[in-house]
Amino acid sequence: MLSAEDNELLTRTGAETPMGRYFRRFWQPVALSEELPARDGAPIRVRIMGEDLVAFRDSEGRIGLFDRRCPHRGADMYFGRNEACGLRCVYHGWKFDVTGKAVDLPNVPPGARHHDTVRIQSYPTREYGDIVWAWMGPPERMPAPPELEYGLMPAGRRYVMKQLIECNWAQVLEGDLDTSHFSFLHMPAPSVPSNENPDAPADARRLRWIRNDPMPRFQILDHEVGFVVGGARKADEEGIYWRMTQFMLPAHGTGPSTLPGETYFGFTVAPITDEACWIYVYAWNPEREIGPEERAKLKKGHGVIAEVGPDYIPLRNRGNDFQIDRQAQKSATFTGIKGLAEQDLMIQQSQGFIADRTRETLTATDAAVARFRRTLLAGAKALMAGEEPTAPWRPEAYRTRPGSWFAAEGIDFEDVLLERFGDRRGRVQAAE
Ligand code: FES
Ligand SMILES: [Fe+2]
Repeated sequence: MLSAEDNELLTRTGAETPMGRYFRRFWQPVALSEELPARDGAPIRVRIMGEDLVAFRDSEGRIGLFDRRCPHRGADMYFGRNEACGLRCVYHGWKFDVTGKAVDLPNVPPGARHHDTVRIQSYPTREYGDIVWAWMGPPERMPAPPELEYGLMPAGRRYVMKQLIECNWAQVLEGDLDTSHFSFLHMPAPSVPSNENPDAPADARRLRWIRNDPMPRFQILDHEVGFVVGGARKADEEGIYWRMTQFMLPAHGTGPSTLPGETYFGFTVAPITDEACWIYVYAWNPEREIGPEERAKLKKGHGVIAEVGPDYIPLRNRGNDFQIDRQAQKSATFTGIKGLAEQDLMIQQSQGFIADRTRETLTATDAAVARFRRTLLAGAKALMAGEEPTAPWRPEAYRTRPGSWFAAEGIDFEDVLLERFGDRRGRVQAAE
């Protein structure tokens, strides 16, 4: 449970809010690279943390990210001409390069000061792992972008997409960190044996263990850029079935199901407003290419990835009640909703646009949710008091892996991580 004040603090990311300032100390995803495919191509609208921006790829392939309002008289730069290394407002022809500097002011007399001083507000960008990232914090405090492992892969070993969710950003992270919900939300209907779920993202044995143990024991270990959560369940002769999730500041999550050799899943949440966000989702396999068949499967929705239309809006969404099938809910799946990601999207949005955390009743399996809130609130409050976060300055510490493992009973979580990843926090070296 949170006080009303802390719930506001946790969830609001506008430019003048404490969490908004904290988020602006980290690189934020603003678009997929594929949304800006061509040099001098059409600009796109970007809305992030309540700010209305426009992005374009210039003649040299660089990406500009501007305030939508032209500094002359406020015309919308989205309608601008993307030409010869700059975006030109079509009202009176003012033109700006990717840094925001005015490079042509055709209605300003030669020699006027305006030629040196006029700028449009712009944010620096980087492309990393098929995503365009923006730096919206103080220019003098700009670190390198986080080295999330998926982005270190050659393009053939990763799959990147995004999907809309119409609720506050923190609900998405909380849903991911609470892996105990798997024993319910993602299960077959009670009448279906564990080995007969057509939608099951895990094999039958894993499914049975998850289903039979709705109270996993959680352990949480802090690291330089967040924490790793282990959920332990009883398996058969394998001993303990561990599912491990990485959380990285401020809004990166991962999927815990991966066994060695399988494809990993992760995501980064970017608030659009306080009541909607983009989830940038990615799958990666450090050991092999993701072939056409697996790619087709990911495109149809798999793991944390939902099935989306060309506008990146999930096909099963709040507008159509996620196409809930009440007959299927009786006889096939716990929810009657197709797709693991869609089940998550449904339940997170069902908590409200901004969940009211003053009215909750938390239990032992919410340990990671509580840690997440404490970590974010502490970070935002510390920044308010003048203490800068250190995580943005540890881009290499973002190279972490989540995943599953089997261990004998009685083995410490740290040693499980060491066995599974060769590191006591699940950090990895860059893959070849
Ligand atoms: S409003 Fe943009 S050039 Fe005049
Ligand atoms: Fe889930």
